[in-house]
Amino acid sequence: MTKKHVKPSLQEVVEAEGHLIDSHIMEQIFDTVVEYHGRFEVEHFHIGRTNSDPSRLRLRVEAPTPEDLEKMLGQLIGLGCTPADGSDAVFETVERDRCAPEDFYSTTNHRTLVRRNGEWLAVENQRMDALLVWSEGKPWARRLRDIKAGDEVVVGMRGIRVIPESKERDRLAFAFMSNGISSERQVDTAVRQTAAMMRLAKEAGQKIVIVAGPVVVHTGGAKSIAGLIRKGYVSAVLAGNALGVHDAEAAMIGTSLGVRLSDGRQEEHGHRNHMRAINAIYHAGSIAGAVQSGKLQKGILFECVTRNVPFVLAGSLRDDGPLPDTITDMNVAQDAYAGHLRGAGLVLCLGSMLHSIAVGNMLPSWVKTVCVDINPAVATKLSDRGTGQALGVVTDVGMFLELLDKNLGEGK
Ligand SMILES: NC(=O)c1ccc[n+]([C@@H]2O[C@H](COP(=O)([O-])OP(=O)(O)OC[C@H]3O[C@@H](n4cnc5c(N)ncnc54)[C@H](O)[C@@H]3O)[C@@H](O)[C@H]2O)c1
Repeated sequence: MTKKHVKPSLQEVVEAEGHLIDSHIMEQIFDTVVEYHGRFEVEHFHIGRTNSDPSRLRLRVEAPTPEDLEKMLGQLIGLGCTPADGSDAVFETVERDRCAPEDFYSTTNHRTLVRRNGEWLAVENQRMDALLVWSEGKPWARRLRDIKAGDEVVVGMRGIRVIPESKERDRLAFAFMSNGISSERQVDTAVRQTAAMMRLAKEAGQKIVIVAGPVVVHTGGAKSIAGLIRKGYVSAVLAGNALGVHDAEAAMIGTSLGVRLSDGRQEEHGHRNHMRAINAIYHAGSIAGAVQSGKLQKGILFECVTRNVPFVLAGSLRDDGPLPDTITDMNVAQDAYAGHLRGAGLVLCLGSMLHSIAVGNMLPSWVKTVCVDINPAVATKLSDRGTGQALGVVTDVGMFLELLDKNLGEGK
C-alpha cells in the first residue's frame, strides 16, 4: 500500500548493529553527523564481547535544518543506521517506464533489507545504483532502465536497513592485503592466498569468474588462464573484443599485437596479424566455428569452447572487427555480464580498468574480488567507486597468472 512521506524533523534516533568498532563504522557514523553540522548523543552502546558478537548502537542525531537531517540520514543509512521509529518503507507507483519518482532510494552494493508490514525482507539481486522494487512478495534491486509503469518502488529512506561489510573475521581469506593494495614484494603471498580462495570457492561449489583485458595475452598470461580453465577453476570469462582478438592472434599466429610471444620481437608486418585473426574468425563464422573447424586450437577461448565455459566479449568504441561473438549493444552486454556474475563467490579482475570497474558496479559487496593491475590507481579507483571489497595486487598480470596456475598444480 502506498503511504505518505513522513515529514523530516530536526532530530532522529537511529540504531546500528554489527562489527562497528574494528570495521571503523562507528567513527564514520560520528564523522558523518559532524560533517552535516549536526550533533549526536549516544543513548545506548553495547560492545560485542566475542569476535562473532555484534555491537549495538542507539544514537540521537540532530541537524540545523530538515534538509541537513535528510542528507545526514541518507549517509547514515549507508553506514548501517536505521531510523528507530519502526516505520515501514514508503512505496510509490511508477507512472512511466524508466521514470522513477524523484526521491527514489538508490541502492548501495551492501546487503539491504526493506521493511514492509512490520517484516524485514532481504533485497534480491543486490547491486549498487539500482532502485528497490516490490515484486513477488519481496524487494528487488532493479536498474532504472528496467523499471516499468505500475512498479512499486521505495522512496525516501524509511524502512531500509543496510548492512555494510565488516572487516573479515576469517583472517585467512584476505589477510594478505588487509591494507587494500599490496606492493610488488607481496606478490608471492597474494598468489598463494588467491589460490587458497580459488580452492575454497571450488570446493564450496561457488562460481569463480574471470574478468580480463587484452594485456593478459600481451604478457603471456593466456596459457595460464587456459590452464586454470582446464583445471576447472573458471566458471565464466568476461572480457572485451580485444581479448578475443589477441587470444585468437596468439593461438593462430603466435603473436599478440604483432609481437612474437616466443621471443618478444616485433614481427615484420605484424600489425596485420590481429586483423588476420579477425578475418579467420569471420571465415569460420564465430569463435566456436573456428574451434570446430580446427582453425583455433589453443588459448583462452579455445578452452572455453571445448570445456563449455561461457564467455562474454563486450564491445567498445575502440574495437577492430569486432569479432562476430562480440556483443555491441551495451545494454545486452551488461545483462550478459550480470547474468554470469549472479551467485559468483570469487571474481578475479585482470588488467582491464574498463571491465573491472564495470563488473564492480554489478557485484554485491560480499563477493570476494581480487584486482590485478600494474597501476595501483586501478584498485583505488575500483574501491572509490564503491567496490570497497576489491583487493588490489599491483604487479604484471602475466607473471601473476603464471604463478597462480603453477600454485594450483596439475589438474584434470
Ligand atoms: N583491437 C581491439 O579491438 C581493441 C584493442 C584494445 C582495446 N580494445 C577494447 O577497449 C576496451 C578497453 O581496453 P582495456 O580493458 O585493455 O583498457 P583499460 O585501459 O581499461 O585497461 C588496461 C589496464 O591494463 C593495465 N596494465 C597494463 N599493462 C599491464 C601489465 N603488464 N600487468 C597488469 N596490468 C597491466 C593498465 O594499468 C590498465 O589498467 C576493451 O573493451 C577492449 O576490448 C579493443
